[in-house]
Amino acid sequence: MSIQTIHVRTNPEYDVVIGPGLLEECGSRLRETVGLCHMAVVSDSNVAPLYLERVRTSLERAGFTVSTCVFHAGEAYKNFNTLSDILEFLAGEQLTRTDCVAALGGGVTGDMAGLAAALYLRGVKYVQLPTTLLAAVDSSVGGKTAIDLRAGKNLAGAFMQPAAVLCDTDCLKTLPPHVFADGAAEALKTGVLCSEELFARIEPGLSMSELDEIIAQCVAFKAGVVERDEKEQGERKLLNLGHTVGHAIEKCSGFTIPHGHAVAAGMAIMARAAENLGWLTDEAKQTFEEGRIESAVENLGLPSSTEYPPEALAQAALSDKKRAGDSITIVVPSKIGRCELKTIPVSELRSVIEAGWAPE
Ligand code: GLY
Repeated sequence: MSIQTIHVRTNPEYDVVIGPGLLEECGSRLRETVGLCHMAVVSDSNVAPLYLERVRTSLERAGFTVSTCVFHAGEAYKNFNTLSDILEFLAGEQLTRTDCVAALGGGVTGDMAGLAAALYLRGVKYVQLPTTLLAAVDSSVGGKTAIDLRAGKNLAGAFMQPAAVLCDTDCLKTLPPHVFADGAAEALKTGVLCSEELFARIEPGLSMSELDEIIAQCVAFKAGVVERDEKEQGERKLLNLGHTVGHAIEKCSGFTIPHGHAVAAGMAIMARAAENLGWLTDEAKQTFEEGRIESAVENLGLPSSTEYPPEALAQAALSDKKRAGDSITIVVPSKIGRCELKTIPVSELRSVIEAGWAPE
């Protein structure tokens, strides 16, 4: 299978490289992009036993000095305590401004290692080595880094672009089904946002033979959005489709419902709300009448609804980053392949959620 490279024109610019066998080659590839240095590899307790030695060997063979930091896996650990441990580790290893952090793992690892890199010495380079589908199609690209606060998801963070992303698609072929499904939700989101053709490829279930191509399509779309709106002043907000309700579901569950599962339910709720509130264009009605978003979510083994009531979700969404004063910007599918931003008073959020909460 071929290796694909997508160039992201942000500041700094970087390549996202997608294909098999990239962890074995990470040393030589990163020597080209970031140069030889002390590489601090941050990973979690699920991923480290699978891939850390492979990465260490490749980096050391290429000439890097390597240190490793492994934290306890899980969204519940994406907090100040773990961030502080990572920062102390970087300081203890005496990383300097010419050194680099590598995030080896899924979205939690990428977000936290990226934030540690943004804070340590007021910013050192970092690279993303995503090992989950969710990180591959979404979180490893675009430079959002964050930890969760008790008040909600991703509430403390920074925009900091990575110096490179190496997405080894071999890692994705052995993911447990629920972890794979989690990433499929973000791929489906991309289809709803930008391409009925992409949506239709994912709709019946994600085929392994098309995986590399689908990841590349998702990354190419995201790269374009991030290039035009790096700091989420406008267009990038569209990437939050399903996320206002999704983040609220995650928070209500005490972060036991994984991100992609929560976003899938959030997307289905927004699709039903758009239909029930009469927000669809005539052209869109046909696709929505067929309930395609809801069915696709279910085909991927994801939830299309939630047990948490609209009131609790609206309350949880009050600390959402997309709120500005008394209004909040939500992302509304207007047809498959196109979504719009809609700013509503926060007081209306509950009725919007209510309109899409229960399946017909
Ligand atoms: N995950 C949405 C974004 O990167 O903007």
